[in-house]
Amino acid sequence: MRRKIVAGNWKMNKTFQEADELINEIIDGLDEANQKNVNVVICPPFTFLEMTTDYAQESDYAVGAQNVSSFDTGAYTGEVSARILHSMGVEYCIIGHSERRSHFKETDSELTQKAELLLKNDILPIFCCGELLPDRESGKHFDIVKQQLDKALFGLDPLDFAKIIIAYEPVWAIGTGKTASPEQAQEMHAFIRSLISEKYGKEIAKNTSILYGGSCNAENAKVLFSNPDVDGGLIGGACLKAADFLKIIDSF
Ligand code: PGA
Repeated sequence: MRRKIVAGNWKMNKTFQEADELINEIIDGLDEANQKNVNVVICPPFTFLEMTTDYAQESDYAVGAQNVSSFDTGAYTGEVSARILHSMGVEYCIIGHSERRSHFKETDSELTQKAELLLKNDILPIFCCGELLPDRESGKHFDIVKQQLDKALFGLDPLDFAKIIIAYEPVWAIGTGKTASPEQAQEMHAFIRSLISEKYGKEIAKNTSILYGGSCNAENAKVLFSNPDVDGGLIGGACLKAADFLKIIDSF
């Protein structure tokens, strides 16, 4: 059975104090909420990982990082390795977010290296894929997503691939308030699952969690998550307010 996941990507937001407050508000809400077997993942900036993993001892969420180095260890100033993340209790890591692909020019081969290093260190990659607006308008969205998966992930061996979580995030929907319609999300998620099935077989495809991301919020999460191939969400803006994030978690 594949897992339902709601992951909050804080991006580069919150100060230390604000982070402390937000985590505590989430914890209070999680204690009360019926989680319906939803795996909740909080992905703060690196600097708040320690605080977030400390609080996780008392609550029912896991901690994710927003990025990882494509290098293993050593003289790479400013980088954070998968080994370091693992030693801090991090269980998930977002890779290939469109903001990293565009602002930091992340390449497919770097993403493969990141995925391999994460898996070697027992961290589950949340791999983001998704098309730009012109790609969708010209009908190339399926091709783009196929290429992203092919190039970065489909070289992994089946045992490794089986641990990957996919997040479909149409770039035109990220932070714009324009959400993919439930039909558009379902159509792309079903397509991604069919690609996984062709490459790795039905069983792995059936068990891969595919999350939707892009202006998913407390109002639209329920209808998005009600689609058969949408297994949860990767939430940006709406995870910065505890009440909204908790409502999204409760949307299944
Ligand atoms: P958004 O971001 O929810 O603010 O659109 C989603 C994401 O970038 O993961």
